[in-house]
Amino acid sequence: MNWQDYRTRYVPLIEQELKDALAGRGGVFDGYYGMMHYHMGWRDEQLRPVQAPHGKRLRPLLCLLACEAVEGDVGHALPAATAIELLHNFSLIHDDIEDNSAVRRHRTALWKVWGLAHGINCGDGMFALAILQLARLPECGVSPERSLRAQRSFMETCIRLTEGQYLDLSFEQRTDVDLDAYFKMIQGKTAALISCATYLGALLGGADGATADAYARFGENLGLAFQVIDDILGIWGQEEETGKSAVSDIAERKKSLPIVYALHDPELRELYSHESLDEQEIARVVAILERHQAREFATDLARRYSEQAEKDLRRAGPDTPARRAILELSRYLLRRVS
Ligand code: IPE
Ligand code: IPE
Ligand code: MG
Ligand code: MG
Repeated sequence: MNWQDYRTRYVPLIEQELKDALAGRGGVFDGYYGMMHYHMGWRDEQLRPVQAPHGKRLRPLLCLLACEAVEGDVGHALPAATAIELLHNFSLIHDDIEDNSAVRRHRTALWKVWGLAHGINCGDGMFALAILQLARLPECGVSPERSLRAQRSFMETCIRLTEGQYLDLSFEQRTDVDLDAYFKMIQGKTAALISCATYLGALLGGADGATADAYARFGENLGLAFQVIDDILGIWGQEEETGKSAVSDIAERKKSLPIVYALHDPELRELYSHESLDEQEIARVVAILERHQAREFATDLARRYSEQAEKDLRRAGPDTPARRAILELSRYLLRRVS
């Protein structure tokens, strides 16, 4: 089976679990859960049922694949996979507010449709629903000891994610961000959750400590490569592919990797010290990045993290069809930019 076959098998399971988790309590709360359903791609702005883009479901897929790769029972990892995707979506709802982004997955961001206050509240609710999912682990046959370890790892991940978001937001006001600081930021905001997905998959699949740790390292390196790729797409990607407006990272003066790499350039520093950037200034920023070959630098780095991830994976547990599918999936992610 290749990774797409696993995706075909697992995504309907994940979707069903997500729908159950977000079913809500009906009645007067229909509008509340309806907003969450909108974000998940199940309803339109009038809250009518619809099938809209819902994202790649990459993290829960990796979680179930890691579980299967260590020859575990995917039923044991399913609540964790669901919790991880809910946490991811909660972070996106709040991230769009924090980044002043109006578009998510080709559609108007939740907070732009219903306002800031509802955006914050929906995110809070989804966060709590994610934690409730993990509380189901013992009911699904997971030992109390592994359930507790999973819960602890998940909560630590939540903290690391918000630490990363803190750095990302504070870097908007700074022009002294170096590569070290950049990597601290993406370790928190992106790699931590992808690492948690593969770690929990292996842990709940019954892997020993060393194997679960190898899956964590794999997820961490894959997550770093993934965010670098997202940064490249955030400048040079096509809107049809990314589902958000092109160059919005520059407009928000984000310290994405190509920018950090070229930040020694005085003209770039000067432009990035402006309160806001108009279209012409954004075009100048892109020209500076191209002059320094920042795209090539970032692509090369994504490839290196991806290769490191592959090495970690080869050291992780038995060579099973699901492990080979994870390898294919990580190569597929890299192909989006190279
Ligand atoms: C977007 O993640 C946020 C990042 C960490 C780069 P994804 O690209 O996985 O988002 P969806 O869920 O597929 O939309
Ligand atoms: C992704 O942040 C990380 C989280 C949401 C925690 P970004 O701001 O880089 O992601 P996009 O580009 O909006 O998806
Ligand atoms: Mg964002
Ligand atoms: Mg952000």
